[in-house]
Amino acid sequence: MTFHINPLHASFAGEVIGINLSRDCGSEILGYLREALDTYAVLVFRGQLLSDDQQLLFAQQLDGALHTKTGVAALGPNRFGNEAITDVSNIGDNGAILKSSDRRSQYALANRLWHTDASFESPRGKYSLLSARIVPEQGGSTEYADMRSAYDELDLDTKAIISELKAHHSIAYSRERLGFEFKANEREILYGTAYPIADLNQRTGRTALYLAAHASHVVDWPIPDGRLLIQDLIEHAVDRKFVYTHQWKAHDLVIWDNLTTMHRGRPYACYTDKREMRRVTTLDC
Ligand code: OGA
Ligand code: MN
Repeated sequence: MTFHINPLHASFAGEVIGINLSRDCGSEILGYLREALDTYAVLVFRGQLLSDDQQLLFAQQLDGALHTKTGVAALGPNRFGNEAITDVSNIGDNGAILKSSDRRSQYALANRLWHTDASFESPRGKYSLLSARIVPEQGGSTEYADMRSAYDELDLDTKAIISELKAHHSIAYSRERLGFEFKANEREILYGTAYPIADLNQRTGRTALYLAAHASHVVDWPIPDGRLLIQDLIEHAVDRKFVYTHQWKAHDLVIWDNLTTMHRGRPYACYTDKREMRRVTTLDC
């Protein structure tokens, strides 16, 4: 079998050609994809007709344990009855498009802020595998930022300032920024955790900026100082030269490394056009 990767951006992101994920996941392919994720951080596969079970199995084969404590679970169980599948769709239990008044659709809007998945958990999210089943005619792309190149291009003073700092991440913070209101018990479940901002990966020897809309403050810093630093770093990291934009087609599967990228969804007519997307995220453990 022959397979290869076509680069999609100058510093990261590639399209994998010649692999059928519902069939070809032997150890040779899995090893090739793990190495490719260390190099490209974002891998695009077109034309992958995957069932939920196939998506779950492939994620487990690729990287082991799956993330199940999704933030949205604090609002109640999802329509699949399996919290390892994160519902990134705008569709409710009855198959109809969620109304703007629905808490779930308001909650989901925070995916349009630059973030990385499950940074508020311990262990945190590692790879996300997002499968597009139905895509809207217009809009609804996903942007990815290369956080290793963004780190490399920081000035030396900034690298020195952040070298020992941690940011606290809570999914409640990213939602509250948009005005979403949690009940006290929901907020308690979503307290979150802290991680280094300059994150050295022992395997690759490269450092990435580890930031997200979930990053609420810098540990041991006054809140406003920390928020300004986080804001400045995110602004730097999402310069267009670090960004790849994925235009979805139905049956695309995109895998990204949450430890070396950030991403955000872009707007579409979410109260009238269906967008059915299912995500499985592995854990960094
Ligand atoms: C996600 C996510 C953005 C999008 O699945 O984690 O943030 O464009 N998705 O749907
Ligand atoms: Mn996400």
